[in-house]
Amino acid sequence: MAIEPAVEQRLVDEARAARHASYSPYSGFAVGAAVLGTSGRIFRGTNVENASYGLTICAERAAVFSAVSAGERAIEAVAIVTPAPPATPCGACRQVLWELWSPHRRSEPTVLIASVESSQPDRRSLASLLPDAFDATSLGEPPH
Ligand code: THU
Repeated sequence: MAIEPAVEQRLVDEARAARHASYSPYSGFAVGAAVLGTSGRIFRGTNVENASYGLTICAERAAVFSAVSAGERAIEAVAIVTPAPPATPCGACRQVLWELWSPHRRSEPTVLIASVESSQPDRRSLASLLPDAFDATSLGEPPH
């Protein structure tokens, strides 16, 4: 099921807006993310840093956790906006994104990557970013 171009554009706009709330005093690297839940709702996230650096949470995971906390159980797409050049999600975020995609797998998951300077996002599939992912099937369970 393809996502409408207008919805993709809105997802990128929401991720761009989410950057403005970034709490990144240590890196100065403000990231915004927005996930599209299967209900059609969009959830924003931004990176939240900490003086004990390791507790920092990325924008992508913040957005996913917000969606799940609101009752979403699967996501269709994610948009990420970073300082230039556009950056792909870190490994931890890829794994967390995969967990919420694997339940339905109705369509090729879309990862939209843009920078503050780019007007058109790059389009990736999560499977290309995280081949041979570990998930429920690795535990001998059906996808949740
Ligand atoms: N960051 C994200 O929010 N998403 C990513 O995919 C990569 C990195 C954040 C974490 C940290 O606050 C800053 O960017 C620099 O690594």
